[in-house]
Amino acid sequence: MTAPLLDIHLTDDDLTAALRTDARTGLTASPKSLPPKWFYDARGSELFERITELPEYYPTRTERALLEQVVDEIAAAAQADVLVELGAGSAAKTRLLLNALTAEGSLKTYVPQDVSASALRGALTEIAAEYPDLGVHGVVSDFTDTLHNLPRGGRRMIAFLGGTIGNLVPTERTEFLAGIHEVLEPGELLLLGAGLVVDPAVLVPAYDDAAGVTAEFNRNVLHVLNHRLGADFAPDKFEHVAVWDTDNEWIEMRLRATEAMTATVTALDLTVDFAAGEEMRTEISAKFRPESLTTELTAAGFTPTHTWTDPARRFTLVLAERR
Ligand code: AVJ
Repeated sequence: MTAPLLDIHLTDDDLTAALRTDARTGLTASPKSLPPKWFYDARGSELFERITELPEYYPTRTERALLEQVVDEIAAAAQADVLVELGAGSAAKTRLLLNALTAEGSLKTYVPQDVSASALRGALTEIAAEYPDLGVHGVVSDFTDTLHNLPRGGRRMIAFLGGTIGNLVPTERTEFLAGIHEVLEPGELLLLGAGLVVDPAVLVPAYDDAAGVTAEFNRNVLHVLNHRLGADFAPDKFEHVAVWDTDNEWIEMRLRATEAMTATVTALDLTVDFAAGEEMRTEISAKFRPESLTTELTAAGFTPTHTWTDPARRFTLVLAERR
């Protein structure tokens, strides 16, 4: 077993600087908004783990069951030497792919990428111990702007699972796919996991669960601003809102101020006024139509070669080749 490598292209200071920029932009905009990536400090990641276990939140278990079903087909089609996993976090789903790709015989290197060095360190050590013949090379970066730091060499498959692509607004999504296209060589692969448009009666409760875990997850972004930027938001004075936007076909999560308030963000030297009932967008989670997803991939310079969908048609995995 060789010791796992870990490249750090994003430090804690970089993260704070990015949060400051995002917070200033979003909190001074009208309507206010904050990007969803800031949910995930240690507490937010824990809350997300709890969300994945909720009866209403079907995406994670649907994707997992689908992946279990088809992972051997994916491995056979991919013949990948290198598996790059974007947003790998604790690398929970990874073992399915690693097992199938190592059984297929092609895989030499696993490259998990995440913004959290601590999450990656734990995952790297575990994976390196479980797969002694595999090279393991972690990358701490922000996938939206540091894709070029991914190690090269061998036929790579970039896996972007979990439906996280849906958290990008359309312009960000286009940029993201262009970025992947730029780092890959012709013939290399992208494996995308995406949520499909389903009945709002199924979709909305997945983002507004009875136990209130998603509400707490949503409010966590205010805790993050309080801790990282010395802000004084009162999270319990914000209500969780989840609405299905029929035109855009995305779930929108918002925080609604229950009364008029002023918050101070010390690190930004900024005061932020909220009117009673004012709503701030904290996340979009776009759902896709199978045709629109393959059209988008094709437009971005990929050829979708395989599509797998669960029996209830709630989630899809697409394997696409860079042209
Ligand atoms: C982790 C991005 C896939 O959009 O469904 C869960 C995050 N937000 N509940 C999603 C989330 C609210 C989740 N992803």
